[in-house]
Amino acid sequence: MLKSTFVPILSTFPTKPKKLPTKLPWLTIITNTYTQSPQPVHQNASLTTPPPFHQHHHPPTSAYIHLPFCRKRCHYCDFPIVALGSTNPTDNDPRISNYIELLQREIVSTRSDFDTIPPLETVFFGGGTPSLVSPRMVLSILDTLRVKFGVCEGAEISMEMDPGTFDGRKVKDLMGMGVNRVSLGVQAFQEELLKSCGRAHGVKEVYEAIEILGSCGVENWSVDLISSLPLQTPQMWEESLRLTIEARPKHVSVYDLQVEQGTKFGAL
Ligand SMILES: C[S@@+](CC[C@H](N)C(=O)[O-])C[C@H]1O[C@@H](n2cnc3c(N)ncnc32)[C@H](O)[C@@H]1O
Repeated sequence: MLKSTFVPILSTFPTKPKKLPTKLPWLTIITNTYTQSPQPVHQNASLTTPPPFHQHHHPPTSAYIHLPFCRKRCHYCDFPIVALGSTNPTDNDPRISNYIELLQREIVSTRSDFDTIPPLETVFFGGGTPSLVSPRMVLSILDTLRVKFGVCEGAEISMEMDPGTFDGRKVKDLMGMGVNRVSLGVQAFQEELLKSCGRAHGVKEVYEAIEILGSCGVENWSVDLISSLPLQTPQMWEESLRLTIEARPKHVSVYDLQVEQGTKFGAL
């Protein structure tokens, strides 16, 4: 979903910038900026790509914040990420703290061509796996956005989260800071498919994650699934859809597998 050629085949996410700058990990963000005031993602059923920035006639009201840290790289993934390994990162990890510091500097120095900038209506933390970043760090980013642009009361603040990377405490802390929508990266409900994708979690963690979101009162959450995976039979796909529906997310994003050069799947 970071590429205009790579949008969920069934979804409502706003499209993000085509390619992120390639200097990760030290490159910063991010910000994105859709044309006009975008509708909240739950109402935005468009798959169209926004026009280039210079054609915008309205000040941006959304920010996309890229947090490029993952435990490991999935076998289909060619996103700009940093694989941190399996231990839980700390705030002192310079791979994270340096990035966040630069990110904040970039937010502060972002210029606008508009005289007045309305407060942000939506903020989307994408990745990578933003749920690996501590709530304290997330709060510092949100505070920077609030000071620079302002964030509307009741703004939709979304975060991509991977099963196995958060507990109830973290979710509650994030909700306390205004995060009110979660995009859960499930991809499949079959152990063998998750393994063959190189996911850092299994089906058990998927259900634990769904349970945590429910017990914390997160009402607005969505599921990402990938179709056309190697070894995925039609029965498996049907099962994933059925189990997703049974979990009752507010939204489902289905991505058809794109085999990218340079990934493990690309070498098959
Ligand atoms: C930014 S990624 C989310 C990353 C998050 N850490 C996770 O793994 O769920 C958004 C979604 O894009 C989809 N995706 C990523 N690479 C893909 C690919 N090569 N083909 C199809 N879908 C892909 C996955 O469904 C993923 O959940």
